[in-house]
Amino acid sequence: MAIDLNELNSDDRYRTVAMNQFNSITAENIFKPVYLHPNENTFNWVEADQLVDFCETNNKRLHGHTLIWHNQLPSWIENFEGTSSDWDLMFKKHIQTICTHFKGKVSSWDVVNEAFEDNGELRNTIWRQKIGDSYIEKAFVYAHESDPDAVLFYNDYNIASKKAKRQAILELFNSLRQKGVPIHGIGMQMHISIDYPKNKKIENALTELSDDGYKIHFSEIDISVNPNGKDIEPSTELYDCQADKLTAITKLYKEIPSEYQYGMTFWGVSDQNTWIRTFFGREDYPLLFDDDYNTKPVYCKFKETL
Ligand code: G3I
Repeated sequence: MAIDLNELNSDDRYRTVAMNQFNSITAENIFKPVYLHPNENTFNWVEADQLVDFCETNNKRLHGHTLIWHNQLPSWIENFEGTSSDWDLMFKKHIQTICTHFKGKVSSWDVVNEAFEDNGELRNTIWRQKIGDSYIEKAFVYAHESDPDAVLFYNDYNIASKKAKRQAILELFNSLRQKGVPIHGIGMQMHISIDYPKNKKIENALTELSDDGYKIHFSEIDISVNPNGKDIEPSTELYDCQADKLTAITKLYKEIPSEYQYGMTFWGVSDQNTWIRTFFGREDYPLLFDDDYNTKPVYCKFKETL
């Protein structure tokens, strides 16, 4: 599950669920550059190390999210001035200081997040503009140099629904792997809804990625029951559809060879914590637990399917 440290520290119900229901943790925000690397020469480990302690004490696997992304960057990176080689040095230090700090504590990293557009073009992020297309390859090489045991992922959304995006991702990473670049897996974020994308598309994506030898992490699961932002009430019918969708994708996930199943991560615990409500400003109920931390039908069916 994705953890919000403030909730973990302030709400006993949240903490109880986090401790008892999940065996793998991703930080929803505090491992992102704006939090870990607020100034050029300052790294802030305080909150992240609290999460490391929580994981060690409670025997949870910790997945790092994310080293390189175009969002949630500190302003010093956005305003950094220098040649492309200055950028490369700064980028390398960012990645390697973080990977070295968490070596042996973080099992896996989303090394690069959301580098592609849905149409398959490379997103024109600040990293690409300043370092060039090779920033993706370099990020994996630098991360691996600092922590050779970490499992390294590329993470993105719409991998199942957008074929052009998936093909571009596979084309790039297959060619990098042929050169020996250490890329072990692909994170399919899975911000989906009860009827989108169709299960067949998810199945096709799982097959293509695992046939090409990537571990697959369902890295940010939530299943919207109200993607169009209508005025709705959570109903038994909607909750059953949500349960059916999660059951279907879980069954498909379990069908890929076990060595390619890295895990399933829910992007939050209770519906009251979901990013969807704040980000889209709509009513929605996409997670396993309701606003009062009661289990929902989707939780019960998921548990039966596991
Ligand atoms: O830290 C500030 C805090 O100081 C301030 O008081 C508060 C006021 O709004 O904002 C806090 O920052 C917010 C942060 O979450 C922590 O709560 C940001 O405004 C808000 O934009 C940020 O949203 C996060 C979002 O990524 C940023 O793009 C969501 O929580 C997080 O769930 C979401 O996660 C992303 C994944 O990393 C990548 N894939 C998509 C996914 C959903 O967008």
